[in-house]
Amino acid sequence: MTILLTGGAGYIGSHAAVALIEAGHAVVCFDNHCNSKPDVAVQVEQITGNAPIMVTGDIRNRAALDQVFADHAIDAVIHFAGLKAVGESVALPLEYYENNVWGTACLLQAMKAAGVRKLVFSSSATVYGAPQYLPLDETHPRSATNPYGRTKLIVEHMLEDLAASDPDWRIAVLRYFNPVGAHASGLIGEDPNGIPNNLMPYVTRVASGRLDQLSVFGNDYDTPDGTGVRDYIHVVDLAAGHLAALDRIGRESRALSVWNLGTGNGHSVLDLVRTFEAVNGLAVPYRFAPRRAGDVAACYASPDLAREELGWEAQRDLAQMVGSAWSFEKLATTRNR
Ligand code: NAD
Ligand code: UD1
Repeated sequence: MTILLTGGAGYIGSHAAVALIEAGHAVVCFDNHCNSKPDVAVQVEQITGNAPIMVTGDIRNRAALDQVFADHAIDAVIHFAGLKAVGESVALPLEYYENNVWGTACLLQAMKAAGVRKLVFSSSATVYGAPQYLPLDETHPRSATNPYGRTKLIVEHMLEDLAASDPDWRIAVLRYFNPVGAHASGLIGEDPNGIPNNLMPYVTRVASGRLDQLSVFGNDYDTPDGTGVRDYIHVVDLAAGHLAALDRIGRESRALSVWNLGTGNGHSVLDLVRTFEAVNGLAVPYRFAPRRAGDVAACYASPDLAREELGWEAQRDLAQMVGSAWSFEKLATTRNR
C-alpha cells in the first residue's frame, strides 16, 4: 500500500516510516517541519534502504493536500501532524486549535474528496484526564485538563461524528501512553528544540552534560517511591502498533475503533533514572522539586484490547528504552557539534 504520513518527519512519524517501509509499503511524508527536519529521509533510507517521499506542506493548506492526493495513489493516512507541548498550548491555545483541530478538519475534507477513507489518528492518554481507576481501559471517561488535551478530545469527537455520517470510513484512534527511546541504529529519535518538557529527553541531556541537573517533580505522590508513575512505551513498539492498526482496519466492520498503545507497566521517575544510570553506566544528577501543575500520581494502560484485537503487544522493556535513547543522544550530540 501507499501510506501518507502527516507529520511523518517527526519523532513517532519517522519510526512509523521505518516500520512501514520495512513491511513493504510505500511512504509519503507530508510535513511543514515546524518541529522536524526534512533530512530525516536520509536516515530512514540509511536504515531501510528505501527513502520515503518527502513533501513539504501544511495540513491547514487544503490545496497542498489535494495535490498530494492527486500526485500519489494513497491507500490510507496516518495522521501524526500537530503541536504537542502542554505548557505551550496553555500560552498559545489558538495555535493549538488551528493546527490540531482545523488542520485535521482540512485533512479529512481532502481525504473525503480523494475517496480515501482509511485513517489512523495519533491520540493520547491525555484524553483520560485524571484517572478515576487504573489501569486505564478504552471505556474510561474522557476529559481534558489543558488546551492540548482538549484538541485531542475534540478531534476524537469529530472522528466519531464522521464515522456516524458515513459507515465506509475505517478509522483507528490510537491513544499513546508515554513514547520514549529510539531506533536501535541511533539514527532517528527524539530531539526536541530548546529545553525538553518531557522526562526522557531531559534525562539524556543531563547525562550528556547539555543540562546540569534533572528536577524530579514531586516525591510525595501516593506511589511506591513517591515520584510520578507512567507507562513508558518504546517508540519502535509504538510504530509497530500502527502497522497492526492499519492491518486491522483493512478487515474491520466498525467504522471507528479505539485502542490504547501502552505496555500496562507503570514506572516511576526514579525507576527510569536508576535504570538509565545502570544500563548506560552514567550518573544523572537530580534534585527533588515541587510537583508540576497538572501532573497526576500514576497513569498506565490496560493493553488488553490492543492485544486481543490487534494481536499487538509491546516487546521492549525499560532497559531497552533508556539504552536506545542514550545511543541516539550520543549520535545527536556528535552531529550537533
Ligand atoms: P513531533 O513534533 O516530533 O512530530 C509532529 C510532526 O508534525 C513534526 O514533524 C511537525 O513538523 C509536523 N507538523 C506539526 N504541525 C503541522 C502542520 N500544521 N502541517 C504539517 N506538519 C505539521 O511529535 P511526535 O512526538 O512525533 O507526535 C506525533 C503525534 O503523536 C502528535 O499528534 C502528538 O500529539 C501525538 N502524541 C505524541 C505523544 C508523545 O509523547 N510524543 C504522546 C501522545 C500523542
Ligand atoms: C506529558 C503531557 C501529556 C503528553 C505527554 C507526551 C503534561 C501534564 N502531560 O505527559 O499530555 O501526552 O507528555 O508528550 O505535561 N518529570 C520530572 N522532571 C522533568 C520532566 C518530567 O520529574 O523534567 C516527571 C513528571 O512529573 C511525570 C513524569 O516525569 O511524573 C513523566 O513526565 P513527561 O515525560 O512530561 O510525561 P507526562 O507528564 O506523563
